[in-house]
Amino acid sequence: MTPPETPQTSSVLTRADFPRNFQFGVATSSYQIEGAVLEDGRGTSIWDTFCREPGRISDGSSGDIACDHYHRWPQDLDLIAALGVDAYRFSIAWPRIQALGSGTINPLGLDFYERLVDGMLERGLKPYATLYHWDLPQALQDAGGWTNRDTAYRFAEYARAVAQRLGERVVSYATLNEPWCSSVLSYQLGHHAPGLHDRKAALSAAHHLLVGHGEAMKALREVVPGSELGIVLNLTPMYPASDSEAEHRTAALEDGKFNRWFLDPLLRGEYPFDIWEHYGADVPEVQAGDLETLKGPLDFMGVNYYTRAFVSSDAQKPAGASYTAMGWEVFPQGFTDLLLRLKRDYAVPPLFITENGAAYSDTLSTDGESVHDLERVSYFASHLEAVRQATVQGVDVRGYFAWSLMDNFEWAFGYEKRFGLVYVDYATQQRTLKDSARWFRALASS
Ligand code: FCB
Repeated sequence: MTPPETPQTSSVLTRADFPRNFQFGVATSSYQIEGAVLEDGRGTSIWDTFCREPGRISDGSSGDIACDHYHRWPQDLDLIAALGVDAYRFSIAWPRIQALGSGTINPLGLDFYERLVDGMLERGLKPYATLYHWDLPQALQDAGGWTNRDTAYRFAEYARAVAQRLGERVVSYATLNEPWCSSVLSYQLGHHAPGLHDRKAALSAAHHLLVGHGEAMKALREVVPGSELGIVLNLTPMYPASDSEAEHRTAALEDGKFNRWFLDPLLRGEYPFDIWEHYGADVPEVQAGDLETLKGPLDFMGVNYYTRAFVSSDAQKPAGASYTAMGWEVFPQGFTDLLLRLKRDYAVPPLFITENGAAYSDTLSTDGESVHDLERVSYFASHLEAVRQATVQGVDVRGYFAWSLMDNFEWAFGYEKRFGLVYVDYATQQRTLKDSARWFRALASS
């Protein structure tokens, strides 16, 4: 059977359903797609190290080759342009720019991203850069990583060097991607590099990440005042399973640790008092002026949304729920609720959905021409509808980036989880459009 050119869902969304100038894009990150880890003077990152430690990555793989995007970027940009999207969110690998994370700038690293950015502009794609999507230079980790306050200043220095070269050709710079992941998930829960189990270290890392964000914002304001500057957070709304007071309290606590711990300092210039108390002796050292630095105004905030958390004291599951291959519940209502809550509780800047998507176990069709990923199509459709609902209710959302352009190295899950609109055969590096890519193309070119 030939697949329909444009997979249909019950409600057909078009650009007209979204605000004027709403940007549609696709997203990736450097370590997940580039490969070429030893080329052109790139230094070692904490993910190179982590992947070599037995048991860290479920399929024992690494980003050594990944999607070989470092060599295939022209074709990959052609692919993005063919999807009819407006923008491409990519990240810059710090160890390509400074092998040791400080001092000498490697011009070859900057050359690569300059070619990439110019390649986007030639194809009519707007470059949205993220400066830190987790690939910290190993040399900085050897000196304590984000638990060392100096890393924050090194980050600002790196951000300045990138902006000096790429300038305002990059329309949007995000400092950090998901600081919860690069602190708690990495220093406390041990799932991500550097794989530690130390809450105090995680909270120190989180604070220094935010200081680094604030310092980088100052540098970027000087060098690229015309670009839009902001940060990307992963936010997960918490829903108590019942009306019980205990579950409500737990949900509020989890919300505080996961969401407010980052939102409050960035948008209000203070850490949430209840959570500060909860952490006791593990709270970070906050120096005079820090809160002002990290509260500096944002031109935008990026929101990454995948699922909600269901908070139950006896491990209940929500009735009738469906799950992605990550085991994440499909819950689009949580997306609308989250966006409305941001508007209600904070003076939020304009928002961009910088990531949203789903992993499913994809198989190539027998003719090798497609992947019939109808669950993913339905995930995208319902979540875009959820974003639309929020915009109708007055939330200022300016764009939506699908995670991800193509299947890639999914961190601790290696290549076992596929999030792409485009299927990647890792043996041949062949890219094949999934039905979800055709669906997204139909929306973006509507
Ligand atoms: C986010 C990450 C991104 C990708 C998705 C699935 O937390 O930012 O790199 O791994 O999850």
